[in-house]
Amino acid sequence: MFKDFRAPFTRSNKKQTEGSQPAAMDTSYSFQDKSIREASVIAIANQKGGCGKTTTCINLSACLAKKGFKVLIIDLDAQSHASLGIGVDVDNLSYSIYDVIVKNLELEHTIVPTYIKDLDVASASSMLTGAQLEIADLLGREGILRTSIYKMLNTNVKNYDYIIMDCSPSLNLLTINGLVAAQSILIPIQTHYFSLEGMKELFSTMKIVKERLNFQLEIMGILPTLFDARTKMNRDILLEIKDYFKDKVFQTVIRMNIKLAEASLNKKSIFDHAPGSNGAHDYSALTEEIVSLTQPGSGIEARFAKEGEKIGKIENF
Ligand SMILES: Nc1ncnc2c1ncn2[C@@H]1O[C@H](COP(=O)(O)OP(=O)(O)OP(=O)(O)O)[C@@H](O)[C@H]1O
Ligand SMILES: [Mg+2]
Repeated sequence: MFKDFRAPFTRSNKKQTEGSQPAAMDTSYSFQDKSIREASVIAIANQKGGCGKTTTCINLSACLAKKGFKVLIIDLDAQSHASLGIGVDVDNLSYSIYDVIVKNLELEHTIVPTYIKDLDVASASSMLTGAQLEIADLLGREGILRTSIYKMLNTNVKNYDYIIMDCSPSLNLLTINGLVAAQSILIPIQTHYFSLEGMKELFSTMKIVKERLNFQLEIMGILPTLFDARTKMNRDILLEIKDYFKDKVFQTVIRMNIKLAEASLNKKSIFDHAPGSNGAHDYSALTEEIVSLTQPGSGIEARFAKEGEKIGKIENF
């Protein structure tokens, strides 16, 4: 299914290929570079629709920015919900991630600021729907975004502490580009409905990506969302999720909170729309967890080393 790009990630002085062709995966950018190590690149993915990926992307990113980190949201969903939900006027943008993926445009040209200081967005556009077909035959198609991100970071054109990607509810080529670019994946799972069967496809895709395209990919955490403690079904499913994924489940559980839905409609983060709400409390707690996981010395690597395993049961799929 995928080409094997497990080339050694060493820095070279190789000149970049110029021209109108989309960039193939470029191995001259290394995770060992200082600027790259400083950025945490996180993909929020689950092919199950409506499980809170975009809500998590917006509010986690907003909270990180409000804490003083420099944050970039990369919107990989043609629906552009992450861009719209934080107030970006997607219809009036000159460029979008489509131009990066298909036209070989540098990522920095698609980046626009949001109303929150230190929070930028590389917006999606409806044209992304067709992007997959346009790059289907391209050698290195799975690594286009990775190359673009690391080129931007490596050349210090723009620098970020966190780059958070909002993936679409599909394991399409754009989501694969997100997984190949990411150091870790955050998987929201709604506590209304949990099916291991439904997760198999995601884990087997991750396994292939990890083996062939991005050996550094780790699970940052499984995030239970849309939790309603009043229903037994929700409580049972939460227990089931914790029982199965154990330490990989975040301690934070995102409760059902209508203010979160209202905030997106008002194109604001929950911290600006309803700062005293349960939604603001939960996303603030999640942000604390993620900051502590991504700080030097207490990172995901340390966590997995402690557990003595890589992606555990997920490897068994
Ligand atoms: N904790 C919550 N409480 C109440 N509503 C929520 C919560 N989280 C998300 N929602 C709402 O549920 C809907 C789906 O959430 P969201 O768009 O974040 O999911 P998604 O996984 O990104 O969906 P898709 O797969 O379509 O991209 C939205 O209307 C959102 O406002
Ligand atoms: Mg979404």
